[in-house]
Amino acid sequence: MPHVYGNDFGAPERAPELTDEAFAALLADDGRVEPRDPMPEGYRRTLVRQIAQHAHSEIIGMQPEGNWISRAPSLRRKAILMAKVQDEAGHGLYLYAAAETLGVDRADLLDQLHTGRQKYSSIFNYPTLSWADVGAIGWLVDGAAIVNQVPLCRCSYGPYARAMVRVCKEESFHQRQGFEILHTLSHGTPAQKAMAQDAVDRYWWPSLMMFGPPDDDSPNSAQSMAWGIKRFSNDDLRQRFVDMTVPQAEVLGLTLPDPEIRWNEERGHYDFGTVDFTELFEVIKGNGPCNRDRMAHRVAAHEDGAWVREAADAYAAKQVARTEGAA
Ligand SMILES: [Fe+2]
Ligand SMILES: [Fe+2]
Repeated sequence: MPHVYGNDFGAPERAPELTDEAFAALLADDGRVEPRDPMPEGYRRTLVRQIAQHAHSEIIGMQPEGNWISRAPSLRRKAILMAKVQDEAGHGLYLYAAAETLGVDRADLLDQLHTGRQKYSSIFNYPTLSWADVGAIGWLVDGAAIVNQVPLCRCSYGPYARAMVRVCKEESFHQRQGFEILHTLSHGTPAQKAMAQDAVDRYWWPSLMMFGPPDDDSPNSAQSMAWGIKRFSNDDLRQRFVDMTVPQAEVLGLTLPDPEIRWNEERGHYDFGTVDFTELFEVIKGNGPCNRDRMAHRVAAHEDGAWVREAADAYAAKQVARTEGAA
């Protein structure tokens, strides 16, 4: 019996296939694609991979910050952080439900995560060493997520686009809370300011890597753009993030660890240094500081939760039997 929790779209039959030409005509009309619409198989597979990877990132992303819930410096900070981490679980749920509208089962997606066949964002393989890291993650990591996700609100696949509208509203709150943590620390004692600066020093470059490899080295981007899944290139989004973040760093009184950052009047953008993508590829391969911990923790949590899934399935079966008995 398939898992029945969480998907109120009904059990979707797999959408029929559509030729690339017919699909291009539909998209040219700025049409939205809905779950039972015909679509090319490549489009469906690309979306499943992207939405699953996005969902996995949301739930793995709960770990680095969850690490600080029991050590938050005040009750207020603890309550805010708990709400934030809970939001990320909710983002995972919307996204697994969106992936299921494409005819896959979330149990299979989780299995692919647990066996390393599907990935999650590499940023969550970095450790959270101090309280200031919670601020840096909110400000920089959620900030980069917003820049990546706002264009997805207009993505051609309806359920993904609609999930993004709500996710982006919550991400804005996450970004503001991170900024506020860092602002408080950077206006506190010299030790607090140093802690904030250290967190920003460690999280800045990995945040820039969140936009993926440079455009010349991003083989699937052109196809995703043609399909209306992706609206801007990796490098354009990275530039947008830098332009948004540099003035905020000035307000915080913190320095971004890149001596090459300067305003370029001619381009109308900030110039910045070269990102070390060899580090990104190493982390993707599994060699980041926390890859093994993150996966071990996730698999253990999944196994510990087996009884909840079994109970949900048993309850659903009972409901079905009851409805059938009444009919
Ligand atoms: Fe999120
Ligand atoms: Fe977030």
